[in-house]
Amino acid sequence: MDRGSKPAVLVTGGAGYIGAHTAKALSEQGFFPVVYDSLSSGYREAVRWGAFVHGDIRDAGALADAIDAHGVKSVIHFAGLIEVGRSVVKPDLFWEHNVGGTVTLLSAMRERGVDRLVFSSSAAVYGQGGRGALETIPEDAPKAPASPYGDTKLACEWMIEAQCRAYGLTAVALRYFNAAGADPSGLIGEAHEPETHLIPLAMAAALGDGKPLTVFGADFDTPDGTCLRDYIHVSDLAAAHVRALQVDLPAGAYQAVNVGTGQGHSVLEVVEAVSRALGRPTPYALGARRAGDPPSLVADPSRARELLGWAPTCSSLERIVADALRWESAPKYGAGVRGGRLGASEPVSS
Ligand code: UFG
Repeated sequence: MDRGSKPAVLVTGGAGYIGAHTAKALSEQGFFPVVYDSLSSGYREAVRWGAFVHGDIRDAGALADAIDAHGVKSVIHFAGLIEVGRSVVKPDLFWEHNVGGTVTLLSAMRERGVDRLVFSSSAAVYGQGGRGALETIPEDAPKAPASPYGDTKLACEWMIEAQCRAYGLTAVALRYFNAAGADPSGLIGEAHEPETHLIPLAMAAALGDGKPLTVFGADFDTPDGTCLRDYIHVSDLAAAHVRALQVDLPAGAYQAVNVGTGQGHSVLEVVEAVSRALGRPTPYALGARRAGDPPSLVADPSRARELLGWAPTCSSLERIVADALRWESAPKYGAGVRGGRLGASEPVSS
């Protein structure tokens, strides 16, 4: 795809789940996404819009080269490690990639005069923080991450905010609740290795891979005893990134914004929605709680509406599950693609 006069946006981690959907949304809104990804967990086949640069988020030179080569004017930063459980056993790795990678990126941006950032943060910054199970979470709620993963996201937010004040960077940190679903085209979707997320695992159980789903805890202080989460369609999430890039903010401004629906669903409600969509029961067993799982994470999404003019349009549980099912039923990214079948920087077709 030729960039033409389109503004180039560096999308670090753009070969991953949310990054790929955001690259598509950027392209549809007249931007030119420049996906920068090491392919350590992303998929080359997920890069279908804009250009692709194979690089590591800790590589200052490669980041600067990508910015120069494509005339990048702004950055959406997804690259980082995301597995909450792994962060508990390898916290150093998470600090190196997530915090160290963000330090490196911010330096490269500053050197090159790129002063607009959207940062991929998480509801993991909140933890349970003394909140009642049915309370929604505004952005100024206490921050009590329950994992080193959440710690690194919060540390990045602090550092970004400080650099906004010090250097005039303008940034929006989007705190995602539970990203789910897939692009309706069936071309891109969720493909984690190993998969730990509820909806793909429930579908795998219902489609008969032999293993029942384990429901992690049925003794929480919630209406049916299982955890409440705010599931947000990945296409709605992608649209929020484009809005965050476009919103009119003064130089040096920093905003943290929840991206969720405001509506919580229990694990058992999700299991029932999967069973309905598939027309067959999802086998499950009630198991022990998973370490680090807060009972409830449901957004107060008022600021996203007021500041970004954003509201979810496709995040009903039925729609999320239907789109996830379409993706699960389609041929996924081909075997052996991860790690870069093509490798080097190159343009891709739109
Ligand atoms: N769950 C099960 N069984 C499973 C998998 C999940 O019962 O096999 C439950 C979890 O306990 C949780 C809910 O389903 O209550 C959702 O779990 P996911 O693993 O799908 O998502 P998480 O809420 O754990 O994780 C999400 C993001 C993380 C982020 C975290 C913040 O994926 O990146 O929210 O807590 F850090």
